[in-house]
Amino acid sequence: MTDPGQRLRSSLAADSSASSGGAEFDSPIAMEAMRATRVLHAADQEPFPPPGRIRVITVANQKGGVGKTTSTVNLGVALALFGLRALVIDLDPQGNTSTALGVEHTVGTPSIYDALVGDSSLADVVHPTTASPLLRCVPATIDLAGAEIELVSVVAREYRLRRAIEGYIQGLPEDQRPHYVLIDCPPSLGLLTLNALVAGDEVLIPIQCEYYALEGLGQLLNNIELVRAHLNPGIAVRTILLTMYDARTKLADQVAEEVRSHFGDLVLTTVIPRNVRVSEAPGYGQSVLTYDPGSRGSTSYVEAARELAERGVHLQPERDPRPMGPPSPPPAPATAPMPAIRPSSGPPSGALKRAFPESDAGVLPVPTSEETR
Ligand SMILES: Nc1ncnc2c1ncn2[C@@H]1O[C@H](COP(=O)(O)OP(=O)(O)O)[C@@H](O)[C@H]1O
Ligand SMILES: [Mg+2]
Repeated sequence: MTDPGQRLRSSLAADSSASSGGAEFDSPIAMEAMRATRVLHAADQEPFPPPGRIRVITVANQKGGVGKTTSTVNLGVALALFGLRALVIDLDPQGNTSTALGVEHTVGTPSIYDALVGDSSLADVVHPTTASPLLRCVPATIDLAGAEIELVSVVAREYRLRRAIEGYIQGLPEDQRPHYVLIDCPPSLGLLTLNALVAGDEVLIPIQCEYYALEGLGQLLNNIELVRAHLNPGIAVRTILLTMYDARTKLADQVAEEVRSHFGDLVLTTVIPRNVRVSEAPGYGQSVLTYDPGSRGSTSYVEAARELAERGVHLQPERDPRPMGPPSPPPAPATAPMPAIRPSSGPPSGALKRAFPESDAGVLPVPTSEETR
C-alpha cells in the first residue's frame, strides 16, 4: 500500500507540473494551480518543523457546523503526513472526528469516556489511524453524552482531561510523544468543553465565513478568559481559522475582513474554501487529504497546518513543560481549595457558573492539588 503522505505529495507534484509551463496566472484555474505549486514548494518533501514544546490545542466554538471537527481532522492528518506526531482527541459524543479518521466508535469501544469518567488511562483508549502511522486518535462513543452529568460527582472533574493527557505524555518515551494534541470540542459550553479548555495550552477557533459568524464569539472569549483567570492560567487564543470561505460571495470577504480587523495576526493567512470534497471525505472514513489530495480543500488544510507548525517553532515552554516532571497541580495553593470558583466565594464563582451553565462549575468544592493526582 502506498504511504498516504507520499500519495499526497506526488499528487501535489502532479498538479503543479501540469500547471507550469508559461501559464498566465490571471484565470481562476491558473490561480489554483499556482496555489497548489506554492503548497508543493512549502512542503517540498520537507517535513513541517516541530514545535518548541508539545502543543495541546483546544479546537472550540460553541456554534455547531463551523468546521471544528473538519479542521481538527484535517489539520491533524496534515501535521502527521508532513512528519509530526499528532494525537486527536474526540470530545464530541457524536463521534464525527472518530468517523472521519476511520476509527471505530461503537458502544463498548475503549474511548475518551473511559478516561474521563472511568479508570482507564489515555494510553488504554488511544487507537491507530489509517491516515498515518504518526496520527493517533482517542475516539468518542455515544456514552460521552452522559459524561456531562456523570462528571459532576467526579473528583477534580474540570481537570480530568488535563491529567489524562499529562499522564499519557509522561508515559511515553520522548521520541514517541506527540508534537501536537488536538482536542475537538462539542458545540456547547458544558463540562466537556471546560475540560478541554483546562487541558489545552491554546485555543484554535474556527470561524465560518457566513452570516452571524461572530455571534457568540464574545461569550466564548469571555469564557476562555474566566478559565484563564480561575482554572488554567496558561490558556490563550492563539489561532483563528476562517472556514467555508466562498469566493463568490461578498459576504465571505466581509466576514474575513471583519475577523482580521478584530483578531489581527491570530488569524491564519490561509483560508479554508468551501469545497465539496471536504464534506464528502468523512463519508468514506477519510480526511480530505487522503480522499482527494489535489483538491482545494486538501491543499488549503496543508497550507493551514504548515502555518500552524511554523508559528509553533518559536514557542517556549511557558509554565509546566509537559514532557518533564510529574503532573503539575492546578493553579492554587496546595492546601486550600481555589477560592475563585467555590460556591461561597462570590462573583467569580457565579461568573464561571454562568459561563458554563451545563457544567455546574462552582457547585462542588474544587479539589486540592493532592486530590487531582
Ligand atoms: N471547507 C468545507 N467545505 C465544505 N463543507 C465543509 C467544509 N468544512 C466543513 N464542511 C461541512 O460542514 C459541516 C459542519 O462541519 P463540522 O466540521 O462538522 O463542524 P462542527 O464540528 O463545528 O460542528 C459538515 O457537514 C462538514 O462536512
Ligand atoms: Mg463537530
